[in-house]
Amino acid sequence: MEIQDLLKPSMRTLPPYAALEDVNALARELGLDPDTIIKIDGNENAFGPSEHAISAITNSLLNTVHRYGDAEQRALRESIGAHINVSPDAVVCGNGSDELIDLVFRLFVAPGDDILISSPTFGMYSFDASLHGAQVVDVPLGPQWNFDSERLLIEATRSKVVFIPSPNNPTGNSISLKLVTELLAAGSIVVIDEAYIEFSTHESLVQLASATPRLIVLRTFSKWGGLAGLRIGYGVMHPETAQICMQAKQPYNIGIAAEVAALASLEDSDSLDEKAAIIVNERDRLAEEFQSLGWINPWQSDASFLLCRLDGISGLELRDRLRTEGIFTRYIAHPRLEDHLRLSIATPEENNEVLRVLKEIGSE
Ligand SMILES: Cc1ncc(COP(=O)(O)O)c(C=O)c1O
Repeated sequence: MEIQDLLKPSMRTLPPYAALEDVNALARELGLDPDTIIKIDGNENAFGPSEHAISAITNSLLNTVHRYGDAEQRALRESIGAHINVSPDAVVCGNGSDELIDLVFRLFVAPGDDILISSPTFGMYSFDASLHGAQVVDVPLGPQWNFDSERLLIEATRSKVVFIPSPNNPTGNSISLKLVTELLAAGSIVVIDEAYIEFSTHESLVQLASATPRLIVLRTFSKWGGLAGLRIGYGVMHPETAQICMQAKQPYNIGIAAEVAALASLEDSDSLDEKAAIIVNERDRLAEEFQSLGWINPWQSDASFLLCRLDGISGLELRDRLRTEGIFTRYIAHPRLEDHLRLSIATPEENNEVLRVLKEIGSE
């Protein structure tokens, strides 16, 4: 029997996931030095991790790497709980928030169930839906990327889980507390993915989640903490849900390097907050500069990136043109984003270089 024939029915057509292109491989392909690339395609933190995190990894791991970590994640759940002012019982850590999205599917979404999204949005929810044999119900965002509350609330009554990033990736806008509350009242599980909340002025829903059955808030150290490569995120939810998640997760899902780096980051949160504030300032500065160029129209963003609508050039064309200059940006293959490009906010120096190149391209 062929290996394909032995696959579970839901796996017969494996879904594509548009992962980031590897910076080294892409730079080599373009004949560029990887060290000179301005990498603004992955919404990573251009400032990197906290210095405390780096020294924690190098100093405190020497005597412990041969041991498994704590399956109960006690120290990290404690520290996250103190950081966001919720009980540690309401926190579950994951190998990136991606793992927690998958855990929600494994626990709650059966083949044939509906999950609800508003596109364009983060691709992981649809990817996991395909892996788990679930149907994706899409209530697209409106012309200004506004949520279509009426249709969302109707569909939420028939959906098992609603997944909304707030701020949304790639559009940068946030959901209102009112709509979250209404979605909860419609009866489904509501996952609010706050991967970019540290760059937003909107209030986080973590405290509400810790006290509200069916509301799950996801957070990550990938963006604010600059630890994308270490893979560490967490979910905040009602302690009863957290207990179920703790039982169902892989016992040693958190690598100990990620754990010590996350703990050190929380101890150094002021410096990470300062970096986040610089990114927010830079985002707003760049948005103004782009607007004045006339052909790059950034949408208002609460996150660490700008989604820009382009005049006179397609998203793919500009992405490829910028690549030849050593600037890697993100084109999102979505019918409504063909004339768009997403740019992560980098350091002020890198942003100046991006601006300089864009001005040059504009004058060609
Ligand atoms: C909305 C959203 N959620 C989650 C993630 C993934 O986070 P993590 O690195 O913690 O898996 C991303 C990454 O780009 C994202 O944009």
